[in-house]
Amino acid sequence: MSFMTPLRLRAATVADIQLLWEWVNDPVTRQMSFASKTIPWAEHCSWLHARLADPTSLLFVASTAAEIPVGQARYDLQGDGFLIDVSVDPAHRRQGIGSRIIAQASQEVFARTSICAIYAYIKPFNKASLRAFRRAGFLEDGEDMVQGQQARRLVLRRAEASSSTDLLPGDSQ
Ligand SMILES: CC(C)(COP(=O)(O)OP(=O)(O)OC[C@H]1O[C@@H](n2cnc3c(N)ncnc32)[C@H](O)[C@@H]1OP(=O)(O)O)[C@@H](O)C(=O)NCCC(=O)NCCS
Repeated sequence: MSFMTPLRLRAATVADIQLLWEWVNDPVTRQMSFASKTIPWAEHCSWLHARLADPTSLLFVASTAAEIPVGQARYDLQGDGFLIDVSVDPAHRRQGIGSRIIAQASQEVFARTSICAIYAYIKPFNKASLRAFRRAGFLEDGEDMVQGQQARRLVLRRAEASSSTDLLPGDSQ
């Protein structure tokens, strides 16, 4: 897939349940999560049904123009902002997809809600994630502890979002 090819974003549905389960249990994704245990099928099913019914949670699936699903981004309301979680299908990493999902989905969230900030908590050694978020316009916002582990906090504020994502080629917005 070319770096310039636009991505399509849609809301996740129950039909994505298997795909999302495979993505969440990808070993690198588990390693980069603050809760690294493998997620059993039954737990995933009840989790997804709860998420889809929760108006404070937004879950997107990104696909190529040829309808190949390549990744997901989830936004959960926390305090005054949204917390983002993102992952790219292992077969499609390092092609610029992660940064574009983050940028496009975050623009969508700002367009749909009145929330002013989106936060990402990232393990300090997760270089791919740190770079993908920076490329999508997120800025360093300090350090924090998440589930007893050190985390870097990055933020995208509404005011900065539109100008920073102009830098990304291939956006479909
Ligand atoms: C993090 C993740 C979403 C990035 O997606 P991606 O499509 O591979 O990232 P991109 O191709 O957009 O790359 C973005 C930047 O990261 C760099 N990068 C990507 N993979 C990298 C790696 N393994 N090591 C170092 N840098 C890497 C790219 O070179 C690019 O850098 P640049 O902006 O300087 O050019 C993906 O690696 C992933 O799904 N990881 C597992 C789940 C995860 O860690 N999620 C984030 C939790 S906070």
